[in-house]
Amino acid sequence: MNFEQELKNKVIRVEDILSRFCPREEGYQKLIMEAMNYSLMAGGKRLRPVMMEQTYQLFDGEDLAMIEPFMAAIEMIHTYSLVHDDLPAMDNDDYRRGRKTTHVIYGEAMGILAGDGLLNYAFETALKSFEVIDSNNNKAILKYRRVARAMQVLSTKAGIYGMIGGQVIDMADYQGEPSRNRLDHMYRLKTAALIEASMMIGAILAGASEENVDRIEQIAGDIGLAFQIKDDILDVTSTPEKLGKPVHSDEKNEKTTYVTLMELESANQEVARISKRAMQNFEALPYKNEFLKKLIDKLINREN
Ligand code: IPE
Ligand code: IPE
Ligand code: MG
Ligand code: MG
Ligand code: MG
Repeated sequence: MNFEQELKNKVIRVEDILSRFCPREEGYQKLIMEAMNYSLMAGGKRLRPVMMEQTYQLFDGEDLAMIEPFMAAIEMIHTYSLVHDDLPAMDNDDYRRGRKTTHVIYGEAMGILAGDGLLNYAFETALKSFEVIDSNNNKAILKYRRVARAMQVLSTKAGIYGMIGGQVIDMADYQGEPSRNRLDHMYRLKTAALIEASMMIGAILAGASEENVDRIEQIAGDIGLAFQIKDDILDVTSTPEKLGKPVHSDEKNEKTTYVTLMELESANQEVARISKRAMQNFEALPYKNEFLKKLIDKLINREN
């Protein structure tokens, strides 16, 4: 099977997991479930759950039922970050994943609440992996510990020391010379943190050593940094049809990005350089996964 077909199949599997874990639209508060599912089930590359599962398999994880709640949870957190990122108070964008943004369809209050709902529901969902562990199994205690550690990573990487922290730096009215260090720090938080969480959780649940989890964190950090630089580039070079979201959003919001900091060509070279470093570190691991290698490679030249 070629890479594109394999990726397609893995994305279909993520869609299936999401439809099993997404909230049921019922009760007097039904509107929030509808708004949550509107954004969650709108497609998207589903990169984070795919990377999580592949990293789990890289470290020979064998209990797929245990990782599924976390795969759904990371996509819920990522989706919430997008719903809030698009709000008028933040980037004020009207399209996402090829459709009108949540706040445009459901109003601003519901946009805020649907984001809150997705964040909280992500934790409710991830906790379900405790239920999957058979308490009669002689490895049960070990698995409980892994799930607890994975919960810790998920919450930290999504929070003020991770994604939210990065969004704060992005929004804060910064006076002064735009610096590459500040931008890298922001990108490592707002974008890389959730990619780090995805791969680290895959490794942790599979029982990887602390040393290997640290190495995965570093690799994922580089993938995330390159991913955000490429996102900056696509914001000026791509089309709304390809991206499913508006172009020139950064210019509209007068953001400092890699594209304002340097020439396009240099920004592209940075994506390639940082991805190559990630790839070298990935290849140096004592475990192999050809699909993940191709995926890292694909991100450099992606068109959306
Ligand atoms: C968009 O993430 C926000 C960034 C971190 C750049 P993705 O490009 O993964 O968005 P979807 O999930 O495919 O919509
Ligand atoms: C936001 O970066 C990353 C998030 C944590 C949501 P951007 O604001 O550049 O993401 P897009 O371009 O709107 O997807
Ligand atoms: Mg933003
Ligand atoms: Mg944005
Ligand atoms: Mg962007």
